[in-house]
Amino acid sequence: MKGIGIIGCGKISQVRHIPEYSDNPNARLVGYFDLARERAEQMAAKYGGKVFDTVEDLLADPTIDAVSVCVANNMHADVTIAALKAGKHVLCEKPMATNIEDCERMVAASRQYGRYLMIGQNQRFALAHAQARKLIKEGAIGKVVSFRTTFGHSGPETWSITPGPGTWFFDKKAAVMGVLADLGIHKTDLIQYILDDTITAVTARISTIDKCYADGSPIGVDDNAICIFEMAGGAVGTMTASWTFYGQEDNSTIIYGTEGIIRIYDDPACSLKVIGKDGTVQTLDIDRIQTNDNQTKSGVMDAFIDALEKGVQPPVSGGEVLTAMRAIFGALESSEKGVRVEVNR
Ligand SMILES: NC(=O)c1ccc[n+]([C@@H]2O[C@H](COP(=O)([O-])OP(=O)(O)OC[C@H]3O[C@@H](n4cnc5c(N)ncnc54)[C@H](O)[C@@H]3O)[C@@H](O)[C@H]2O)c1
Repeated sequence: MKGIGIIGCGKISQVRHIPEYSDNPNARLVGYFDLARERAEQMAAKYGGKVFDTVEDLLADPTIDAVSVCVANNMHADVTIAALKAGKHVLCEKPMATNIEDCERMVAASRQYGRYLMIGQNQRFALAHAQARKLIKEGAIGKVVSFRTTFGHSGPETWSITPGPGTWFFDKKAAVMGVLADLGIHKTDLIQYILDDTITAVTARISTIDKCYADGSPIGVDDNAICIFEMAGGAVGTMTASWTFYGQEDNSTIIYGTEGIIRIYDDPACSLKVIGKDGTVQTLDIDRIQTNDNQTKSGVMDAFIDALEKGVQPPVSGGEVLTAMRAIFGALESSEKGVRVEVNR
């Protein structure tokens, strides 16, 4: 049985972390901390456990074995490192951190203090993604040549616990990056996972095209990110992340190989389609991808607890996510300088 502390009791904690720990027979919710105390109180009242006055108090509790870090992006690194130093295992939400030095410090702290670090890249746990990885490994579409991976919806204004155009997701200081790091990191990590390959060069255009604050001025971070990724294995494809897909979410990935095509979460009627070179179509309806409005169980918390119970590194370690984060920061550099940027070489 693992004692769990929750740091940050906003939307992702409320719809995913806390309910999924609560459902896990090997997890016990010990307590909560949030800068907005009433959110911690609401969670304690609903799921049990206590409210801590400070993050230091929570980290000093010896009955807490592990924490979820669910605060704004700019605090991920400091809170994670403080927790690792206090001897807690950490499940930190994405994006891992807001610069590569902080990401590397998190991985080093995990090693130094002998505690596990997992990053909440939940897309790896969507069943059709795992199935696509398996099919590609088995050679179902031959050698991968190209891909198109997309994550777009109408923006975080309706998501955050403090909704509206004043959300911290639009604030340069708290979020640091916009949709590139919010949705783009999901697909950047995912494409490396599905292809079992590494991004080695990025060419990107990161823009703020449409989103505005209440006064009509443009938001402080990007609302559209379009990247070309070159993979070590030779494939070249695109990753698009957008907060301006109004009307319908797109969470699809299409992989083009020498022997066919795999389309994932691209058709509402089936989660995975394998199209042979000869045009034959095989469909597999495994599950439905989560959307903001339809939260299904992510499986992330179960995987974290399961690994801790076994005393092994949970999946999606901080070290594994470093290559995806380098691609994200490379995309920013590419867009700023108007050049192709090599990463992970
Ligand atoms: N894996 C996913 O699909 C997914 C989805 C949404 C959000 N997230 C990530 O989760 C994190 C939280 O996002 P959210 O949607 O829950 O935001 P939110 O605005 O709904 O909630 C954030 C909460 O953190 C609290 N907070 C901020 N700084 C804090 C600090 N230093 N100490 C304690 N509490 C603090 C706020 O008071 C708020 O209650 C973000 O990094 C976001 O990128 C991941």
